[in-house]
Amino acid sequence: MSGVNEIRATFLDYFAKNGHQVVDSSPLVPRNDPTLMFTNAGMVQFKNVFTGIEKRPYSRAATSQKCVRAGGKHNDLDNVGYTARHHTFFEMLGNFSFGDYFKENAIEFAWNLITREFELPVEKLMVTVYHEDDEAFSLWKRIAGLPDSKIVRIATSDNFWQMGDTGPCGPCSEIFYDHGDHIPGGPPGSPDADGDRFIEIWNLVFMQFEQLPGGERLNLPRPSIDTGMGLERISAVLQGTHDNYEIDLMRALTGAVEEMTDVPADGPQKASHRVIADHLRASTFLVADGVLPSNEGRGYVLRRIMRRAMRHAQLLGARDPLMHRLVPILVREMGRAFPEIVRAEPLVTETLRLEETRFRKTLERGLSILETESEGLGAGAKFSGETAFKLYDTYGFPLDLTEDALRARGVNVDVDSFNAAMERQRAEARASWAGSGEAATDTVWFAVREEVGPTEFLGYGTETAEGTVTALVTEGKRVETLPAGARGLVVLNQTPFYGESGGQVGDTGTMSGEGGLKLRVTGTQKKLGDIFAHEVEVEEGTLTIGAPLALFVDGERRQAIRANHSATHLLHEALRRVLGDHVAQKGSLVAPDRLRFDFSHPKPVEAAELKAVEDIANRIVLRNEPVVTRLMAVDDAIESGARALFGEKYGDEVRVVSMGTDPGNGAPYSVELCGGTHVARTGDIGLVSVLGESAVGAGVRRIEAMTGDAARHHLNAQSRALQGAADVLRAPVGEVEARIAQLVEERRKLERELGDAKRKLAMGGGAASEEPARTVGAVKLLARQVSGIDLKDLKSLADEGKKRIGSGIVAIVGVTEEGRAGLVVGVTDDLTGKYDAVALVRRGAEALGGKGGGGRPDMAQAGGPDGGRAAEALAAIENALAG
Ligand code: ALA
Repeated sequence: MSGVNEIRATFLDYFAKNGHQVVDSSPLVPRNDPTLMFTNAGMVQFKNVFTGIEKRPYSRAATSQKCVRAGGKHNDLDNVGYTARHHTFFEMLGNFSFGDYFKENAIEFAWNLITREFELPVEKLMVTVYHEDDEAFSLWKRIAGLPDSKIVRIATSDNFWQMGDTGPCGPCSEIFYDHGDHIPGGPPGSPDADGDRFIEIWNLVFMQFEQLPGGERLNLPRPSIDTGMGLERISAVLQGTHDNYEIDLMRALTGAVEEMTDVPADGPQKASHRVIADHLRASTFLVADGVLPSNEGRGYVLRRIMRRAMRHAQLLGARDPLMHRLVPILVREMGRAFPEIVRAEPLVTETLRLEETRFRKTLERGLSILETESEGLGAGAKFSGETAFKLYDTYGFPLDLTEDALRARGVNVDVDSFNAAMERQRAEARASWAGSGEAATDTVWFAVREEVGPTEFLGYGTETAEGTVTALVTEGKRVETLPAGARGLVVLNQTPFYGESGGQVGDTGTMSGEGGLKLRVTGTQKKLGDIFAHEVEVEEGTLTIGAPLALFVDGERRQAIRANHSATHLLHEALRRVLGDHVAQKGSLVAPDRLRFDFSHPKPVEAAELKAVEDIANRIVLRNEPVVTRLMAVDDAIESGARALFGEKYGDEVRVVSMGTDPGNGAPYSVELCGGTHVARTGDIGLVSVLGESAVGAGVRRIEAMTGDAARHHLNAQSRALQGAADVLRAPVGEVEARIAQLVEERRKLERELGDAKRKLAMGGGAASEEPARTVGAVKLLARQVSGIDLKDLKSLADEGKKRIGSGIVAIVGVTEEGRAGLVVGVTDDLTGKYDAVALVRRGAEALGGKGGGGRPDMAQAGGPDGGRAAEALAAIENALAG
């Protein structure tokens, strides 16, 4: 029969023909189960469908599920490489019935597939059933026609399947293949069943129960079916071998290792080839599903897998990092079935190269210590746990790597003293932060971190997940519960909620749990760098530590934030290209409705420059290019030209986000160190609209912008306002600007003309002959009372009067509509030695009921509350002159 890819396809097509929905594999990091480290079986994604919590539009499904069995309940790491069938990563083919068919059909489907489609000879097959399951026994007899001797009853947990400590479970029935008597081993249930001759190829689970945490077992609402067939195993059978590592897919990988190292894949170092092939698959798929190597949780399991492979690469004599060079071969073999590894190829390659380059720096030194310290230890001896801890702490050797290295000689590590050394180091770390004088509020977080560890962030890949509550804090204190109506901060073991950092605001959303528990999440903060504290309000129910919660990020808001964050990167680079290399980021805010970017630039950004920046950013948006994230060593990233925020503290390894293509040289357009969340393609930004620029401080400018829907709504509102203006003007939109300029100009002209006319009117008409100036005492006096003009025009009226009489005194009193009075006295220049305008205006002001008045000898003014006494004011001035 054909290759692994065809076998997978045959399985899925067969079940599709039999009314099953073919469903994609779910990610390796389970989103619906906080208790599980990695997806370890096909049924994991359907867990809640079995228990009835979740509904799907189909009741029969078939999948080829990516599984990792390392670091959890099902942990195969230690055996990989040394046996014919252990893997950390494998694919599980499965068919599922959710309350649809049960035992009879399940047995029928399985039997027909393997005997008719796969054409396995019946005499090579036998089955097991759970010892109490008479029904399964007789179904096998009837459907398969197997003799009693080939239907073995098994009483152990081998025939009772359980996903983890809790969850759906039930008795199972397994199908075995006999590889022939040339291979040692006995049938299932016999003392030498562990041999390689009789191999379980398919497990049919009759899902009937749900295991609860306390030990109690519930009946599932409807009996269901879950089956699992290792793709590698069935491929081995169909390709005529009992060894999974002999199948075409694994051969392609070990063959490549052989080519790169010149060490034969079937020689004495066979195990190393196999470890590398297996661990390459696990590492690639884990990275593609969002796990990155770290020293905690899932990231540490990945690191252990990677480093174990890297040690074997070294054992094969590879001088340079090897693992990353194998990625293209794996992608060629499995990329069609799993496009996620095609997408993640750059990230996987960089991650493996970085890890191997760094680990090689300490690997050799560590191995030589291991050599020296284990010298003379024979089989059954114990290797010092203290030394194993030193190898771990100083040389980055995970415990299982040390164990693996000693395995061939039958030497074991003293794990107890290793653990004791680890605990001692933790205690020292605790003591040092306790004495470091941190603020009391932070002390709470130090304690939380120490006790529950950092939160695993799942939000690069998903907006929904499940998590378990690990700590609750309210008013700076840790509590055990939060009742309905209370507010507080919730810490979980893992979360899809982004914690505010790097300018990007924290996520909001909802959480729910058992017993009608409902929480509103109003924000998410990061504490001590890696604890995510969710600000919640308990709407219904009581929140307690240990509660499993379903977590939902507000997806629309997150999408808007993503668009704004990616747009910030595009604007940053566009600003640098338009304004110059001196442009450096000084701060940013990435919110759902807008973005703000502060940068160094010594002067205002001109309108044309701003337009150029906006145009460039939108061109990249329209080209809809992928946004690629890689993990790199911080120094390499900066050296390769990635923009980093000056003064920012980065870890050793950083995420590097690239987007767009530079039309000039084909290189990525923007490359930045960034832990934020981004769109998948630039087109998801929709549109970038720059609102304007302003000054923030000396040499720092700020631009603000909007993207996507927010930008569209903003621009629509502006365009509606413009149309409104056009309607009022009864002009086409294109003429609005010119028409308004024209109106403003016309208005200015009219105001000027009106002012002139009023003044003329006030002075009693235009003709000089009508001028009623009189001679009082020794001088000419022009005295007028005016109304209906602006009091600030009084002075220019007085000037005009002075010009008209040539030599003399002008006194003008103006009365406003409210009845207040203003008075101006002007003295022509030739008379300023004799008459003082200030003295005269004060006389008039007194009569108006006012006080004071001031100005210069040739022009003074005053005001008063009583416009009704305007005539008296003029009379008082006349009297002063006459006297
Ligand atoms: N869930 C079952 C298993 O993993 C089919 O074997």
